[in-house]
Amino acid sequence: MKKTILITGGAGFIGSHVIRRFVTRYPEYSIVNLDLLTYAGNLENLKDVDHLPNYHFVKGDIRDAAFVESLFETYQFDGVLHLAAESHVDRSITNPLEFIQTNILGTAVLLNSARKFWKDSPEGKRFYHISTDEVYGSLGEEGYFTEETAYDPRSPYSASKASSDHLVRAYFHTYHLPVVLSNCSNNYGPNHFPEKLIPLSINNIKNNKPIPIYGKGENVRDWLYVEDHASAIDLIFHQGKEGETYNIGGNNEWTNIALIKKLCEVMDTALGRPAGTSEQLITYVKDRAGHDLRYAIDSSKLQRELGWTPSVQFEQGIVKTVDWYLKNEDWLNNVLSGEYEKYYSDQYEKR
Ligand code: NAD
Ligand code: DAU
Repeated sequence: MKKTILITGGAGFIGSHVIRRFVTRYPEYSIVNLDLLTYAGNLENLKDVDHLPNYHFVKGDIRDAAFVESLFETYQFDGVLHLAAESHVDRSITNPLEFIQTNILGTAVLLNSARKFWKDSPEGKRFYHISTDEVYGSLGEEGYFTEETAYDPRSPYSASKASSDHLVRAYFHTYHLPVVLSNCSNNYGPNHFPEKLIPLSINNIKNNKPIPIYGKGENVRDWLYVEDHASAIDLIFHQGKEGETYNIGGNNEWTNIALIKKLCEVMDTALGRPAGTSEQLITYVKDRAGHDLRYAIDSSKLQRELGWTPSVQFEQGIVKTVDWYLKNEDWLNNVLSGEYEKYYSDQYEKR
């Protein structure tokens, strides 16, 4: 069936994988990528698909209500997949207002346009909000986040995402806007911006720079290969039940230190270095403020109700990821620009 779909944040890490999946699997859809191209947005992520006739890029800001409304007017969207956000926890600690503006106000602007344009014909429409497991707070050594876990965000980033989730549900209950939501665990894979733990460490190992581990490295994250997140998003967009939330996770918990040791092993092999070489770069640094101890997702609802399972095992995914970064030096060099150097020096060298 023909559809015109707005994907926000499509030039970012996860958004670019979602765009690739949609423009190639659904030639009958017209896909509009709305992205402001902040430091995290990079059109190079899409260079293999940007020639396709069903792909359109629009540079713009989700906070700009008049602009977003004019896009809805022009394209008459049938669906929205909303990924645009400020996404890095450390940046939210330094600059919370930017996160509040983009993640809360930006989401409200999109919801409001969808409400206005869909109010007389909500049939077949869908507003899909892509969110994070961080809204649930921090776990102890046991237990999992389910869709019923009470929200307890603890960083400006997670509080802004929690707030946007609440707004999406409020528009469902108040205005019957046809929404669906998902909350996913940590993604990894190609095109991940090198401010995040895995790509930052790959880049530092490659350049023989210290690998900064916050605190004691005992914090736990549940890692999912980014294409598996994109496959879950595809399924939820098409088959998720209106008004429902689905948790997405890799069932793949690692302490940061164990993860980095594994990465060092993979990098030593890939770079032809003697085993144990890269591990020597591990450096413990001052902990992140309010650092959540553990995230772990129970994704059984998504598996049971929609039949989703992750397809990439971590052992495979981490090798594929390292391989991609080593083969795409130009991509990496292009994003390690002036802005990145300043960020790196403020975040790590002045700690
Ligand atoms: P990212 O930072 O790589 O990309 C964000 C994109 O949004 C960029 O292309 C950026 O240019 C764009 N953007 C930012 N502000 C904008 C604005 N005002 N208007 C238009 N575009 C704007 O983020 P990501 O890691 O790909 O995350 C995408 C989404 O998935 C986010 O909503 C994030 O909260 C969520 N999420 C991420 C993860 C993860 O592990 N990375 C896990 C779960 C959920
Ligand atoms: O859980 C989902 C979330 O995962 C997403 O919503 C966020 O957008 C995404 O950025 C990610 O958040 P994290 O804070 O978990 O990811 P990050 O890669 O920043 O950090 C992973 C872990 O590694 C975390 O415990 C902090 C630690 N860390 C991070 C960096 C950047 C370090 O020890 N050293 C570092 O230099």
